[in-house]
Amino acid sequence: MQKLVIKGGHPLQGSVEAGGAKNAALPLMCASLLTSDEVVLRRIPALRDIRTTKQLLLQLGAQLDDFTPGMLRIKAREIADHTAPYELVKTMRASVMVLGPLLAREGKADVSLPGGCAIGARPIDQHLKGLAAMGAKIELDQGYIRARVKRLQGVDFTFDLVTVTGTENLILASALARGTTVLRNCAAEPEVVELAHVLNRMGAGVEGAGTDTVVIEGRESLGGAAHEIMPDRIEAGTYLMAGAITRGDVRVVGCESSHLNALLEKLDDAGLTVEADDDGVRVVSNGKIRSRNVETNPYPGFATDFQAQYMALMALGDSECGITENVFENRFMHAPELVRMGADIRISGRCARVIGVQTLSGAHVQATDLRASASLVLAGLAAEGITEIHRIYHLERGYERMPEKLSALGADIRRAKDDIV
Ligand code: UD1
Repeated sequence: MQKLVIKGGHPLQGSVEAGGAKNAALPLMCASLLTSDEVVLRRIPALRDIRTTKQLLLQLGAQLDDFTPGMLRIKAREIADHTAPYELVKTMRASVMVLGPLLAREGKADVSLPGGCAIGARPIDQHLKGLAAMGAKIELDQGYIRARVKRLQGVDFTFDLVTVTGTENLILASALARGTTVLRNCAAEPEVVELAHVLNRMGAGVEGAGTDTVVIEGRESLGGAAHEIMPDRIEAGTYLMAGAITRGDVRVVGCESSHLNALLEKLDDAGLTVEADDDGVRVVSNGKIRSRNVETNPYPGFATDFQAQYMALMALGDSECGITENVFENRFMHAPELVRMGADIRISGRCARVIGVQTLSGAHVQATDLRASASLVLAGLAAEGITEIHRIYHLERGYERMPEKLSALGADIRRAKDDIV
């Protein structure tokens, strides 16, 4: 196993490019199962979750060509298997998004239940409820969801809560259903909009993505498409906060600033200078971090995927603030690790009280999930002394070449062999 060793205290300076968005790439890779034609995806990030999804697609019988870096050609001429096995689903919950396409195209899918997850129970009841409303018979058997249907039927379905992959799974399923599906209380994330856009290029009839009501006219079949994945807004925002916490000046090129509005408004309020243009976003520190409350919400609210990094930033704030996590239960596992680095954070249910301290100090800390890991990296970059982050495989699920990108901005960060497991 590997660890990250960071010597903190270097203000980050310069430009970094955002890679392709993991959370946009995953549903698009699953969308390729809806057609026997070729789907070509460009700007595919080199990440563990992408590799897991490739393995899953291969297992289901798709042919993949990924010889050109950043490009992935997928051709699911036929579906040879309809099982998403436990070994793959357990490492990546998003694999449940093969359920909709398999049911829509083949009328059968056996997908392992994702099981417990470090950031709360994360059930998939909404995915199943929607597919059942479309006529699927769903049984749970030996840890597997076994879903069967002759053909999915269009339906008017309202989600009980806003779920991103739930919305995506049902859009995928409806694309080949008989008749019209109306989905209400949908997630409006840019990744949902991108999925709808690509499906439409494949011949689907999806309207309203990006609002809370999405209407899908089911088709008999879909064709192929070629598409370049959108830049990763979460990665971009993480580097902007890395600049802010080190009192530096970081520009992320190639990102879409409108996708970052909630974060940028908050950073502006916290005393950072934010400059956005067509080609990216720059955040400049004047040395001071103002403590500002935040609460996470579905898009266009402040993303839960920024909460951990923002908490690291606020740990060095000039007074105190509250951080409320409305999307996930139990998404504060980074807090005790930040406390080990000298932060003053008190958790009560879904709320964290963060009392700013003058300095953080380097320590051994453990990454627990993807964004929590990023918050520890940010804290390490700003801390005095050496921080060693263990279990960095979480980070590699969602950040492409993060140590290299941070080094290019002036950070002192390296990978090393980890003897503590
Ligand atoms: C997606 C993102 C993840 C992000 C999250 C919230 C991908 C691959 N991942 O995850 O990075 O943190 O959105 O923005 O896009 N819920 C249920 N029942 C369901 C589904 C969800 O109760 O059937 C709950 C979850 O436990 C959670 C909330 O709804 O409390 C939101 O989860 P959801 O939007 O589904 O997250 P993901 O789609 O898994």
